[in-house]
Amino acid sequence: MLKDVASLIMRHTVPSRRHLTPELVLRLITADTPLWRAAEDQVPFKDPFWAFYWPGGQATARYILDNGDIIKNKTVLDVGCGCGAGSIAAAKMQAKRVVGNDIDPYAVVATKINSEINNVSIETSTDNFIGAKCAEFDTILIGDMFYDEEFANMLFKWLKILVSNGKTVLIGDPGRHGLTDKRREHISLLARYDLPEYCCMENHGFRETTLWKLNK
Ligand SMILES: C[S@@+](CC[C@H](N)C(=O)[O-])C[C@H]1O[C@@H](n2cnc3c(N)ncnc32)[C@H](O)[C@@H]1O
Repeated sequence: MLKDVASLIMRHTVPSRRHLTPELVLRLITADTPLWRAAEDQVPFKDPFWAFYWPGGQATARYILDNGDIIKNKTVLDVGCGCGAGSIAAAKMQAKRVVGNDIDPYAVVATKINSEINNVSIETSTDNFIGAKCAEFDTILIGDMFYDEEFANMLFKWLKILVSNGKTVLIGDPGRHGLTDKRREHISLLARYDLPEYCCMENHGFRETTLWKLNK
């Protein structure tokens, strides 16, 4: 089954470096792939979020690659890992242990494929960690997860608990509505990045992306 999923992913994606972290090659659905223009009923995946590298994830991975000390020797959980770029960046910067987590089983297969082509080894999990204590992790990565108000409510409450228990929480976000002004009072800006032209085209209107740290 997993082998079939991996073949399907390989067939419908291409290696891409057209993003904020060109040192990472990621298999994605891009404007160069037939699925880009395919009708919904021709797409063999349901909601393939993992096939795109979201601006929030790009900020997360860019920041980690440029500021390796924040991750070195840490145990890292990348919640909603999608294509796996945040996890791969953390592994490249010598995290002690990295778990790429996504409730979509296709995403963790894509993450495994992408970790292999970037020569790093990471663990994966399809568990739903939201609400969990995460005792075994120092650092939680959240790349572009504030796109839905109801989910954002649940997510933010949980992240606040994790921070009060001593975890570091990094949030990559291009300005999604779920990261409200009220929530922004609890986060500190670490970096702001202009998105490359291709990513602006792909992300309809977003021209920049940001990386935040959740305050204690
Ligand atoms: C917008 S994508 C972001 C992917 C990646 N972090 C990035 O920035 O490129 C959101 C991802 O979160 C995953 N997701 C949604 N709810 C989740 C949950 N409760 N636990 C883990 N992953 C979840 C989705 O399957 C999807 O892959």
